[in-house]
Amino acid sequence: MQLYVVDDYGAMSRFAAHLTAERLRAQPEANVVVPTGNTPYGFFRELIALRQQGAFDASRLRVFQLDEYFGIPPDDPRSFSGWITRSFLDPLGITAAQVVRLRGDADDPLVACRDYDAAVRAAGGFDVVVLGLGRNGHLGFNEPPADPAAPTRLVRLSAETIASNEHYWSVGAQVPKHALTCGMNNILTARMKLLLVSGEQKRDILRRTITGPIIPEVPASYLQVSAQVTVVADSAAWPWPQSATVEYGHV
Ligand code: GLP
Repeated sequence: MQLYVVDDYGAMSRFAAHLTAERLRAQPEANVVVPTGNTPYGFFRELIALRQQGAFDASRLRVFQLDEYFGIPPDDPRSFSGWITRSFLDPLGITAAQVVRLRGDADDPLVACRDYDAAVRAAGGFDVVVLGLGRNGHLGFNEPPADPAAPTRLVRLSAETIASNEHYWSVGAQVPKHALTCGMNNILTARMKLLLVSGEQKRDILRRTITGPIIPEVPASYLQVSAQVTVVADSAAWPWPQSATVEYGHV
């Protein structure tokens, strides 16, 4: 695991976008996953600018959705699919045919999750997974406790996650209680994992993610024993030594 500590949110976004663009340039048919949430907005902006400058080509990428509320159609304002389309896919010119959705509007969540995992397998797994960090250590919506082999599935959201996601919309929007999440197994076996962390409110969970015990109660702690992990944090989230390479055993 490599940890890069940069000055602020802007520097985190720029650095992460450069790392990603470099990889996408080398692998224009990559299978890519990006998160929703507030953290990646700047990263999206920078990556879109790099694409406009010709740093990489997005026309052959394949994008897999990381997580989605259950019971929500893509045109609902709360839909993560709609969010990703507006803020990432459309600006990069990525078409619906290039996207594998997590169908939060499916009648049967088991079938939706099974189909998604089959599509991931058929594609040969993920090449690039960009992640945000939940305040309780979740990755995607892999709420604690989540073990590293957890497949794509329906989860019940914790009260903490529901409360923190309320800030995504105007007052009064109901946060759904259930979601579909890409499994820990898919995430942890991705060939490049980039975790973006910004702000003082993530300080404690980032410390536990990187230096705490590796336990299901902190799903992100499994990144410690997963290969090819890069954490990009700003100095508010990691106020300790400015830059460090954290070496852990690889699985
Ligand atoms: C949300 C999403 C995650 C996201 C995380 C952090 O609940 N399910 O995909 O990465 O929590 O969100 P934020 O960046 O807003 O702190």
